Amino acid sequence: MQTIRAMADLGVALRHLRGPSATLALVPTMGALHDGHLALIDEAKRRADRVAATIFVNPLQFNDPKDLERYPRQEEADLARLEAAGCDLVWLPTPDQLYPPGFATNISVRGVSERWEGEHRPGHFDGVATVVAKLLLAVRPDLAIFGEKDWQQLAVIRRVEADLGLGVAILGHPTVREADGLAMSSRNALLTADERRRAVALPEAMSEAARRILRGGEVSAALHEAQRQLRAAGFSEVDYLALVDGDSLEPLERQGENMRMLAAARLGKVRLIDNIAVTS
Ligand code: PAF
Repeated sequence: MQTIRAMADLGVALRHLRGPSATLALVPTMGALHDGHLALIDEAKRRADRVAATIFVNPLQFNDPKDLERYPRQEEADLARLEAAGCDLVWLPTPDQLYPPGFATNISVRGVSERWEGEHRPGHFDGVATVVAKLLLAVRPDLAIFGEKDWQQLAVIRRVEADLGLGVAILGHPTVREADGLAMSSRNALLTADERRRAVALPEAMSEAARRILRGGEVSAALHEAQRQLRAAGFSEVDYLALVDGDSLEPLERQGENMRMLAAARLGKVRLIDNIAVTS
């Protein structure tokens, strides 16, 4: 696996990697890699001849400086995991390479980015949209793969790609979960042992609410009960727990065609997000 740090070396490395005709898949990450990321690399290998990954903890997408400071960093272990997974190239840009002095461009997506995470983390999706556009423009892959765990992020990225005509196929990959059902996330490492045990209440409460809705229960009552269960399990704040249309992300008050349940809640110092399809 080739490790690139300077943006100036990227073009030659990619030309060499792709040769005259190889297809390339990109897996953008912020490091602290877990099995969910490795599933994205596996999927990338199935879909393209060559696989590149990026590791960049993007300061633009952290609305809370403490969250940026706390974000887990483990470069050596990440590089070893990528290499073992069969990744061909990894690029680790530095903030000054992606955001040179005087950087003043911001990509802001209306509509799908406005509710949910967008409302609770002002500026977050501008940061995601801007960095992902920069990474796609620098690497120019045929396709890029993102985890469905960040369902709204995936919708925002699809919008950016379509609106800017970047010519990259954007693929989502199903959320990978721990044995007890908790969605894998780099942030799980920040939970204490006690919080980790309680965290499973998030997917459990969501699944139960989904079952109630599918049995014909009132949507607001099912969501209300799920919030109660989260508080009982020790979650201090539930930022949102909503039934939405999976494409527009607009809230649904009753059953619809393409239902997704989205949630974000805080356990101790850690904010967890999750989403599930609501289908029978
Ligand atoms: O999902 C992530 O890890 C990040 O938001 C991404 C897409 C790599 C952009 O920084």
